[in-house]
Amino acid sequence: MIKKPIVAANWKMYKTPQEGVFFISELNNLLLDKEKPSIIFCPPFTSLFHMNEMISDLDISLGAQNVYFEKDGAFTGEISMSMLKSCGVQYVIVGHSERRHIFNESNKDTNKKLHTVLENDIVPILCVGEKLEDRESGNTRMILMEQLKDGLVGINKDMIDRMIIAYEPVWAIGTGVNALPSQVEESHAMIWEILLELYDNNIKNNIPILYGGSVKPDNSEELIRTKGVDGFLIGGASLNLDMFSKIIEIVHNKFMR
Ligand code: 13P
Repeated sequence: MIKKPIVAANWKMYKTPQEGVFFISELNNLLLDKEKPSIIFCPPFTSLFHMNEMISDLDISLGAQNVYFEKDGAFTGEISMSMLKSCGVQYVIVGHSERRHIFNESNKDTNKKLHTVLENDIVPILCVGEKLEDRESGNTRMILMEQLKDGLVGINKDMIDRMIIAYEPVWAIGTGVNALPSQVEESHAMIWEILLELYDNNIKNNIPILYGGSVKPDNSEELIRTKGVDGFLIGGASLNLDMFSKIIEIVHNKFMR
């Protein structure tokens, strides 16, 4: 089965609502009437409401960068799944390396969030990836196994079939140094093997695995041709209209040939 390629933008803590709306309208002008991959924007929470009003006629989806696992309550500064859904969110990034390493989120936290997202019929984009020291000491597989095994506790095979996974090696995020295609291929294969192991070979081969980490127009052609890559999760280059639209075209061309 051919999976529709995905190009997801993680805007992190960049762009005001006005800038977000402007970006989407400009991108739409550039891509109007062109066939595209699935495009998902994950802007800051403050932009979701306005961007949702904007994209209702466009072939673009909205994602959030985070969610809290409780339904509601006295949790100052957090955001709930129902709040996100009411802003049109269809995807939520869970376990991003910045959440793990700056905000000390554990695999257990990630797991609680995954359950919340899936129980709300929203698609989680689960991020996994090793730090440089893990790679250099040959522990990439062990880290991926830990993040997947502990992150997926209680997630049954029907639930896993509704997820997206993003391989984002921490050392490639925001550094300008992308993982080499051979490293990406190897890690994506590892992720797939680990999933098969965890689910006794009992999962469908349609879980998209995205690559993220310094994806730019000039490396995206090579990376999207890499075996096991179903699309990208993009930080820096997704903030720039020219770069982001070029990557979209490159991904589209690869899959349509
Ligand atoms: P960069 O594309 O800026 O390296 O960020 C990747 C990322 O963290 C996407 O979630």
